[in-house]
Amino acid sequence: MAELHRHDIVIVGGGAAGLRAAIAAVKARPGSSVALVSKVYPMRSHTVSAEGGAAAVARADDNLEMHGYDTVKGSDFLGDQDVIQAFVEEAPRELTQLEHWGCPWSRNEDGTVATRAFGGMTTKRTWYAADKVGFHLLHTLFQTSMQYGDIVRYDEVFVSKLLMDGNECRGVAGLDVRTGEMMGVLGRAVILATGGAGKVWPFTTNGNIKTGDGMALAYREGVPMKDMEFVQYHPTGLPGTGILITEATRGEGGHLINSEGERFLITRDYGVGTKAELGPRDMISRAEVQEIEAGRGIDSQYGQHVHLDLTHLGEEKIMKRLPMVRELSKIYAGVDPVYEPIPIRPVVHYMMGGVDVDIDGFADGVDGLLAAGEVACVSLNGANRLGSNSLTECLVFGARSGVKAVEYAKGTSDGDDAALARMGEEEQARIDALRGKQGGGEKIAAIRTDMQSAMESGCGVYREEASMQQTVRDIAALKQRFEGVTLEDKSKVFNTEIIAYLELENMLDVAESVSSSAASRNESRGAHTRKDATARDDVNWLHHTLCYYDPAGPRLDKKDVTLGRWEPEERKY
Ligand code: FUM
Repeated sequence: MAELHRHDIVIVGGGAAGLRAAIAAVKARPGSSVALVSKVYPMRSHTVSAEGGAAAVARADDNLEMHGYDTVKGSDFLGDQDVIQAFVEEAPRELTQLEHWGCPWSRNEDGTVATRAFGGMTTKRTWYAADKVGFHLLHTLFQTSMQYGDIVRYDEVFVSKLLMDGNECRGVAGLDVRTGEMMGVLGRAVILATGGAGKVWPFTTNGNIKTGDGMALAYREGVPMKDMEFVQYHPTGLPGTGILITEATRGEGGHLINSEGERFLITRDYGVGTKAELGPRDMISRAEVQEIEAGRGIDSQYGQHVHLDLTHLGEEKIMKRLPMVRELSKIYAGVDPVYEPIPIRPVVHYMMGGVDVDIDGFADGVDGLLAAGEVACVSLNGANRLGSNSLTECLVFGARSGVKAVEYAKGTSDGDDAALARMGEEEQARIDALRGKQGGGEKIAAIRTDMQSAMESGCGVYREEASMQQTVRDIAALKQRFEGVTLEDKSKVFNTEIIAYLELENMLDVAESVSSSAASRNESRGAHTRKDATARDDVNWLHHTLCYYDPAGPRLDKKDVTLGRWEPEERKY
């Protein structure tokens, strides 16, 4: 192995959760050496594309109990209530901390931090910086991280394996994309902060880098994936590209309209009550699909869509609060929302499921491994996440995991360097063998396309037994075909074919855990909506799903939900 680097802890991922973890770690234990390994330059992490805002109690008409209840109800009672309690308590401190580090939150006339309405929230609780929140938040974290010399960055290094000493995670093996050389980055604790896996589906708001890498790394080492069946469709994606049109459009007063010019969330009963466009995402996505299936969609070259109408908001408000929405709509949909409605349809946006972790971020079953942000399932979001809870989740649980990781690292010893180096060398041999790999002629792109369409047909907004089972079989067959992939590029420098191969390997494992978990849950809850089992069933299904890797096929188990002050009740708005 070309290089072996030693640190106290290793963080994989340079987005909001990873950067927040790194800063928290060096502040909690000054002098700790923190490696931050990212497959892209940190400012290119997917956090940068977040738009609408981050939730935390800030106003006099709000309180922690209300934020807690909204989140529990939004989760369809599958969120763990101890986690939700900790989250709402720490959220205001985290967003204020960002303010102190320079995040330019939008302000009210009186100078206080402005907040806007978001779906499923009882009051205006979402802090924002116009509609470029991800950019400002990531920039703030990145520039803050640069103040700390103990945070050592490894940019454009693709982590392909966790290095294990028995049952303890003691580092990672990564491919330096610029040189093609493998490196080992060792630490006494490893935090995964690699984000979600939207690219497992064909139509997503997620950037190309969101390929479930951290989920797959942990899954293959025996950590269960939790609640993978719950996949969030965001109600407003641009047809064709899937580009996000932020929920802030509806928070600022936008309307959803069908082909008959009706505001269908008001005129028909979709369970959102008077919340209308500010209902939760699972319900609004279902309403849009139903409108289209009932023949009230609008035709386009990309299939049917409905309309998001902002024309009544006026140019001044749109330019002040939603300037990027205007820019994106003009460039990618050819409409100016000041004058015309925007075509939109539901689009895969977020994974509620992920690496099973406890409230401090420690992964189930592997010592020294933690996860935070979208890669993790700490059970904040249950069966459906509320918009704007996710950026805050990255901050709250990123910070927690950073502190806990350095504490853990202090109390444990280094692994067996020689054994770890040997494991790294085996991984290097595996990667080297991929250059110009002679397989059976299978192509990465063909398998990826087939995986995405299988996932869309079995694990979409609406699901049913036969199509979910078909997807399980399709993914198993695609994993077989993957063995026969042929690779042509023998070069070392920026060999993007090898990266695409490793990403597809990861996505297939994620797809396996999503489809198997979905096929097992025989009820409808949150984003998991079955046409053939339409009711929520708390007697049999008020539990988390665990999915374990096994080369012979995934193994499923269950785990209790932590309830608390809020008893499960019918979820209506
Ligand atoms: O619509 C949005 O701005 C997305 C926010 C989120 O997913 O939290």
